[in-house]
Amino acid sequence: MKKEDLRFVDLKYKPSAKDLICLFKVKPAKGISMKKAVNTVALESSVGTWTDVEFGKKDYVEKIKARVFSIKGNFVKIAYPQELFEYDNVPNILSSIAGNILGMKAVSSIRLEDVSFPKKILRSFKGPKYGINGVRKIMKIQKRPLVGTIIKPKLGLNTKHHAQSAYESWLGGCDIVKDDENLSSQKFNRFEKRLAKTLEMADKAESETGERKAYLANVTAETKEMIKRAQLVENMGGKYIMIDIITSGWAALQTLVEADFKMAIHAHRAMHAAFTRSREQGVSMMVVADFARLIGVDQIHIGTGIGKLEGKIKDIKELKEDIEKHKVKATKLRLEQNWGKIKPVLGVSSGGLHPGHVPFLVRHLGKNLVIQAGGGIHGHPDGTVAGARAMRQAVDAVMKRRSLKDYSKTHEELRKALRYWKV
Ligand code: 3PG
Ligand code: 3PG
Ligand code: MG
Repeated sequence: MKKEDLRFVDLKYKPSAKDLICLFKVKPAKGISMKKAVNTVALESSVGTWTDVEFGKKDYVEKIKARVFSIKGNFVKIAYPQELFEYDNVPNILSSIAGNILGMKAVSSIRLEDVSFPKKILRSFKGPKYGINGVRKIMKIQKRPLVGTIIKPKLGLNTKHHAQSAYESWLGGCDIVKDDENLSSQKFNRFEKRLAKTLEMADKAESETGERKAYLANVTAETKEMIKRAQLVENMGGKYIMIDIITSGWAALQTLVEADFKMAIHAHRAMHAAFTRSREQGVSMMVVADFARLIGVDQIHIGTGIGKLEGKIKDIKELKEDIEKHKVKATKLRLEQNWGKIKPVLGVSSGGLHPGHVPFLVRHLGKNLVIQAGGGIHGHPDGTVAGARAMRQAVDAVMKRRSLKDYSKTHEELRKALRYWKV
């Protein structure tokens, strides 16, 4: 029998600083060895295909093939020479490392857990314009977590009530008010009108409270329309825009960042769970966050570990370090990365949160965090202003190292929120 060609597996290979490294979790298909399975993955994501081809083994082609250099249980590391990629093209990079290979018959499951970028690729991106420190400067908030809300109901509200609800949220103590991920410019609430009215309310709330107030207008749309909307936000003096990075796509996010607006960019990750939720198959949230940081979002949803959405706090902590640290250390599910000049991204916890969750979030995720609640603010028994107050009071309590129970004795809105949500 012909000896199996496993030339994409080289366990003696030492990755170079010019390689992009991927960490995969792989389960080979029945009857296939691990080496054979990962050889297939490495070839399909680099210079090979299912059979030998005429010029396939030329020296200059072989030189830039991907190499499997580590197999530990189900965890496999593959080195991709940087020449395989167009450095500043995220869709191109993903079409290799998270493309065909996710559906090969040779594996029963495969998950891309993490990516580590070589310097050349890092340097071809700008990264966040503001990041954690920049956002804190814009908002003039030095130490505490930022308090945000999403206008609810997420769809259906008319422009007048949307702007009114935003105003009440700011008045009560929110720093940030954002559109929901699926609100763009529907008939019941057109983008232009909503933007004008809500920014007007932000100004009013700023002058009444003396605090910075930001409106995160959702510019998610077809790319040319998205740029038009972002331009409008800038022209009208907005501080922020938000984009649904997965449903819009990586190219759209690159386009938005390249347009170089002055505003900070908030990244919503709706639809990520389609490929991040399984722990065996797909692409991890760590990878999504890495590419978002590389391209240049200033803040991104990372999960809560406690609210309505799936996700363990331990994984969210690791994810947060990944977007915050300059030098990220390797763990079982993470690769080492030196981010160089790419700034840290601010994490956003959102999804089913209320004031009772604040101590848990700060204990596990620290103070560099946007704590966002929709239902947990607008659902307060006394309405939005009281809901926003309760949330700010919960943050203040944690900053003063007081328990919520104790602090709520002198803060009625917090007391009612805790009672209402049975904390
Ligand atoms: C694809 O994009 O579907 C593959 O590149 C098909 O290539 P193949 O015929 O060599 O498998
Ligand atoms: C989000 O966009 O993260 C969610 O809409 C949060 O909404 P909720 O606080 O009402 O769950
Ligand atoms: Mg939402």
